[in-house]
Amino acid sequence: MINVRAASLSFNHDGTSRPVLQEISFSIEQHESCAIIGPSGCGKTSLLFLLTGLLQPDSGVIEIADGFRSGTILQNFGLFPWKTVYQNVGLGLVLKGEEQGLIRSRVDHLLTEMGLAGFHSHFPGQLSGGMQQRVALARALAIEPEILYMDEPLSSLDALTRERLQNLLLEIWQKKKITTVLVTHSIEEAVFLGRKIIVLSRRPGRILQIVDNPDAGERGYRRSELFFHRCINLRELLKGEDGGQET
Ligand SMILES: Nc1ncnc2c1ncn2[C@@H]1O[C@H](COP(=O)(O)OP(=O)(O)OP(=O)(O)O)[C@@H](O)[C@H]1O
Ligand SMILES: [Mg+2]
Repeated sequence: MINVRAASLSFNHDGTSRPVLQEISFSIEQHESCAIIGPSGCGKTSLLFLLTGLLQPDSGVIEIADGFRSGTILQNFGLFPWKTVYQNVGLGLVLKGEEQGLIRSRVDHLLTEMGLAGFHSHFPGQLSGGMQQRVALARALAIEPEILYMDEPLSSLDALTRERLQNLLLEIWQKKKITTVLVTHSIEEAVFLGRKIIVLSRRPGRILQIVDNPDAGERGYRRSELFFHRCINLRELLKGEDGGQET
């Protein structure tokens, strides 16, 4: 479904070129759930931009299978401030030319699921960060994507809401058999949701390890000893990358 081979990326800043991603290679199968984790500034968002085509690599290859609907949740939510919650969530459906009845029922259902019933006519600026994040999640899900790219989609939520929406994501992934790519800072979230966990080094991001986590999605996994051990291992791996300062 997704195939990345030796992709590298750098940004020019004040006339100097700074490498951000180096020789990244991995693949994601259809229906797989993949989590990407790494220190702040290591290039996770840039990598997601490469996958969604918002950026092109300097070298290497990014291949995404053709003909699949994809939804994206950007780190800054990417909501339109001049559109209401309802219009934001329904946007993809309007662009697809769906009929009003279907749009209304799907948007209503998603807003209820996100705990946002009653906020239809609010504008994003009138919502908290966590509420905006849930609107972004609802908007991405509204088009029933087959590939879902998410950049820290749950980072602004309180612990319990976050856990509830992690369960919801898991349920959607299992029921709808979508392919998911989740960028997260949270070790527990990566282990809970990612069957494959791509661990990046600090900037310039290289792949430190690709961890197989086949139990993600199994019943009771979150409270199991195995889950706990996988989190500890991942924490150890990331600890070596905690350089403190940005360079
Ligand atoms: N448009 C840009 N121009 C120049 N430098 C950029 C640009 N976008 C990102 N960078 C740099 O690339 C590096 C990686 O940024 P990126 O946003 O991909 O990191 P990240 O892993 O998503 O971080 P975080 O976890 O904090 O979201 C950073 O050092 C950043 O300063
Ligand atoms: Mg980021």
